[in-house]
Amino acid sequence: MAQLTVNGRALQHDAEPDTPLLWVLREQLGLTGTKYGCGIAQCGACTVHIDGNPVRSCVLPVSAVAAGAKITTIEGIAPDPVGAALQKAWVANDVPQCGYCQSGMIMAATALLKAKPRPSDADIDAAITNICRCGTYNRVRAAIKEAAGGPKTAGLDIIHIVRAV
Ligand code: FES
Ligand code: FES
Repeated sequence: MAQLTVNGRALQHDAEPDTPLLWVLREQLGLTGTKYGCGIAQCGACTVHIDGNPVRSCVLPVSAVAAGAKITTIEGIAPDPVGAALQKAWVANDVPQCGYCQSGMIMAATALLKAKPRPSDADIDAAITNICRCGTYNRVRAAIKEAAGGPKTAGLDIIHIVRAV
């Protein structure tokens, strides 16, 4: 058995060393909030944090996670004040559509706001390279800005424009 520290808990698994971290989280540890999209580090659906840094867990062998490293998944983001602020802004801005990409989006956004508490549009574009088939990009940006202390109506303005057309 091997051990991982996930969301503050020491958890055991018996996956092969080359198993991607994503599958250990989902299939051995039952943390299914982290999603599989592409499997080739392109879409970001599988984003988790390792020691606060966003990583694409679909291409990271579990053996590459350093002993004692702290893994955070979407299930563990609510106690984090930045993560909680983003989740609140996500709800206020009605960001999710189908929802499949959203765990990865919030994990990427949390890492961004921790590094840059007041990100510019360019900062957001550079950090949030996640793919959303539903096209929630404008609302993602609005929610990040709201969580960062920006205007609270940005996302709603977008909704009103869409509904008015
Ligand atoms: S599933 Fe990992 S980046 Fe797409
Ligand atoms: S909300 Fe559906 S893929 Fe992003």
